[in-house]
Amino acid sequence: MKKIALTNSQYIMKKGKILRTRQLTDFEKLFEISLEGGERLDHEPGQFIMLSVCGAGEIPISVSSSPSNISSSFEVCVRAVGKVTNALHKLEAGDEIGIRGPFGKGFPIRIFEGNDLLMVAGGLGIAPLRSLIKYVFDNRRDFGKVHILLGCKSPADILFLDEIEEWNQRMDVYYECTVDRAVPEWQGQVGRITTLIPGVHLEPERTFAVVVGPPVMYKFVIKELLAKNIPGRQIMVSFERHMKCGMGKCGHCQIQHVYACQDGPVFNYDEIKYLKESY
Ligand SMILES: Cc1cc2nc3c(=O)[nH]c(=O)nc-3n(C[C@H](O)[C@H](O)[C@H](O)COP(=O)(O)OP(=O)(O)OC[C@H]3O[C@@H](n4cnc5c(N)ncnc54)[C@H](O)[C@@H]3O)c2cc1C
Ligand code: FES
Repeated sequence: MKKIALTNSQYIMKKGKILRTRQLTDFEKLFEISLEGGERLDHEPGQFIMLSVCGAGEIPISVSSSPSNISSSFEVCVRAVGKVTNALHKLEAGDEIGIRGPFGKGFPIRIFEGNDLLMVAGGLGIAPLRSLIKYVFDNRRDFGKVHILLGCKSPADILFLDEIEEWNQRMDVYYECTVDRAVPEWQGQVGRITTLIPGVHLEPERTFAVVVGPPVMYKFVIKELLAKNIPGRQIMVSFERHMKCGMGKCGHCQIQHVYACQDGPVFNYDEIKYLKESY
């Protein structure tokens, strides 16, 4: 077992209050949360928190808002899939939850600066990527070209529609969206997210790709990115493993010598390509 230095603050559950909720789709809700005493969460895009609902349990959830947000509150976007997430969905503004963290390594923003970004989100993967996208827009001059590719099962599953409309209007962003299954009124593209990658004009040596989505997506997206000559060390992926402690103690998230909660959840492809159960 790894020896890991822990600070007291990683054990302490802070009191969080739900300020607002917004139903985004039938299964996903956005929660705006404040910490007791107006404390800032102080996270990096790509990091996660351990969120607990009294009587239900504790789960890892990515922070979906940007650290550049001037408000001290933060946002998480949660899909109702089981015990804790369903209990959370039943809570309303004013209700209290527990928060530990932030945990893990986020996206290496300092390394991204001055380079181009290709952000590829599948479904709920837009939740953690939104934190990075908002940060990049708040500090737009620090980054080169920005490409955002989004893939969803159907138009009804697209999250943050109002914000996406704004990204689509921007002249300094290349944005494309595709759905697996269209409806008659859908005027956009139909097909897997991989079909969008060949059409992106990029300079591979100065492009960092960031890929977040369901595990099944990674293998195929990474293959396309490597075919575009983006070096493996410039392809970032975020691992969602089952997690319990969030801080390198319990081993729930362990893949060989790697602890997804602490060494990740964000890795570059060269770091993880030799792991069993990797992509
Ligand atoms: C680093 C990280 C960041 C995450 N960020 C988000 C986020 O921003 N929004 C969000 O909605 N979800 C996110 N998840 C997934 C979320 O943690 C799980 O959906 C949640 O733990 C399910 O708990 P539950 O008690 O509601 O479901 P359970 O009753 O425990 O299980 C219901 C179903 O969900 C599956 N499940 C449980 N845990 C996970 C997991 N860690 N990953 C994938 N499937 C799981 C189970 O296998 C089961 O099929 C993240 C997970 C990790 C590891
Ligand atoms: S979640 Fe416990 S070691 Fe990673």
